[in-house]
Amino acid sequence: MGNRQRGLTFGSVAEDYERYRPGYPGEVAAQVLAYASEPTRTAVEIGAGTGKATRGFASLGIAVTAVEPDAGMLTVLRRESAELDITPVQATLETFATSGQFDLLYSAAAWHWTDPATRWARTVALVRPGGTVAFFGSPTRVDDPDLAEAVAAAQRAVVPDDDVHPDGEREPRGELRWPGTELEASGMFTDVTQRRIPGKDTVSRDDFLHELSTVSAYLVLTPEARVDVLRRIAAVLPARVPLDRTVTLHLARTKESR
Ligand SMILES: C[S@@+](CC[C@H](N)C(=O)[O-])C[C@H]1O[C@@H](n2cnc3c(N)ncnc32)[C@H](O)[C@@H]1O
Repeated sequence: MGNRQRGLTFGSVAEDYERYRPGYPGEVAAQVLAYASEPTRTAVEIGAGTGKATRGFASLGIAVTAVEPDAGMLTVLRRESAELDITPVQATLETFATSGQFDLLYSAAAWHWTDPATRWARTVALVRPGGTVAFFGSPTRVDDPDLAEAVAAAQRAVVPDDDVHPDGEREPRGELRWPGTELEASGMFTDVTQRRIPGKDTVSRDDFLHELSTVSAYLVLTPEARVDVLRRIAAVLPARVPLDRTVTLHLARTKESR
């Protein structure tokens, strides 16, 4: 299965996704808005999923256009966001059509599914000059080196190592990480900034297994292989699993003149 297709597999687990994937700390939206050079009134979110990041921005009074290709994810987003100024649109970044421009474009744990050949030109077309772009995510990471290695070993028995982390996560860890590296290289943005928002969590073994089963590397497995890998991982886990929920945030501005 190609990367682009793999990005479209989440709908089958939309309810589990909403229940077991963590949300984002309020600090993320606060830092994005503080970074913006002018007031942020409108935003477009790419790959909004069930609305975990959408609600954080909309509850601060921003009108959010939530672009999401998957009907199952959008159903949950609509249900969970009814009171907020959110406009859900069923589309990908590549097919989303609008005549307007937004103060802010952001994407949470979804940018790696967009088309690398067109994503930056699409971004610039969607954001007003001097507007803000923000990309953030927090891959599921076990916060204990020995336990993390035991989980990785159990994973490797079934899931190819390369499949566990999305694109950007595989890049070498220089000072500036993906997609900051691409923001810089595109030459289309200024003030490229990378931040870390530290966070820790502890979840039950069952909740951790449910969270893992919403990760695309698992969604593309056959049901038998998924059961097999989750059973192997369960066997090495303690009752409570410590997690590192640090969020990596990349920020930049579109140029004032184009
Ligand atoms: C891991 S989920 C992240 C959802 C949400 N942003 C969050 O943080 O919980 C990735 C989402 O990106 C969507 N997606 C996949 N390909 C996309 C594309 N080309 N354009 C926009 N969204 C896409 C998927 O349907 C999925 O809902």
